[in-house]
Amino acid sequence: MRVSFVTTIVVIITTLLSFETLFVSANTQCLGSCNKSKIKANGTQIKTGKDKSGFCSSLIQGQIPSNLNMVSTLILKPTNDEQIKANKTFLVKIKVKNLNTGFFSDPNTEYYTSSQELDNNGLIKGHTHVVVQKLDDENPPDPTAFAFFKGLNDKADNGVLSTIVTPGLPRGLYRLCTMSSSFTHQPVIMPVAQRGSQDDCLNRG
Ligand SMILES: *[C@@H]1O[C@H](CO)[C@@H](O)[C@H](O)[C@H]1NC(C)=O
Ligand SMILES: *[C@@H]1O[C@H](CO)[C@@H](O)[C@H](O)[C@H]1NC(C)=O
Ligand SMILES: *[C@@H]1O[C@H](CO)[C@@H](O)[C@H](O)[C@H]1NC(C)=O
Repeated sequence: MRVSFVTTIVVIITTLLSFETLFVSANTQCLGSCNKSKIKANGTQIKTGKDKSGFCSSLIQGQIPSNLNMVSTLILKPTNDEQIKANKTFLVKIKVKNLNTGFFSDPNTEYYTSSQELDNNGLIKGHTHVVVQKLDDENPPDPTAFAFFKGLNDKADNGVLSTIVTPGLPRGLYRLCTMSSSFTHQPVIMPVAQRGSQDDCLNRG
């Protein structure tokens, strides 16, 4: 009896220790299939270019919100198919629900360095972005190219955030999207697969 008690304690302590080791090293070590990448995440935005193996991060996903607290976004301005004068500044206004905004880490030193966290109301702490890309017929736009990009890092006012596109855009057809993120820039992590999109896009304008 006594022996098995000791064994149990020893096993628990060993498990706790190894869990702690795993947790502490998660930011810098690559686990499992991640071993295949030779470059490890280090808090910078690593661009491996022609090296197709990319890099790896074993960061723990962290706190995941309740299914009743999932992020949802709507673009208020401009509107779908709206025609905007070429090279003229215009306002982008969005409304975001269930994202506690204003949490934005330094993308040069703290990129993918912290697990997702919830606030006391169970909402993801993070920020969002607006990105505009030129459309080329029916081809998905090149993600490395954008006509406008802005992190919306401020605290939202009643969920509303805005930015001005200066100095406007040259004549053309564009897509405008939001991109919601956790504090250290990973996409928001949600509790269920079947859900409404956390982001919104306008496909014309
Ligand atoms: C990953 O690499 C570490 C350190 O080199 C090694 O200890 C571990 O067994 C590897 N894991 C897998 C799943 O290959
Ligand atoms: C982070 O890793 C990249 C790729 O290995 C490397 O080029 C860069 O110098 C590293 N930066 C820091 C601050 O460690
Ligand atoms: C808008 O600006 C671009 C780049 O400065 C210029 O090439 C283009 O002619 C301008 N278009 C209009 C309609 O003013």
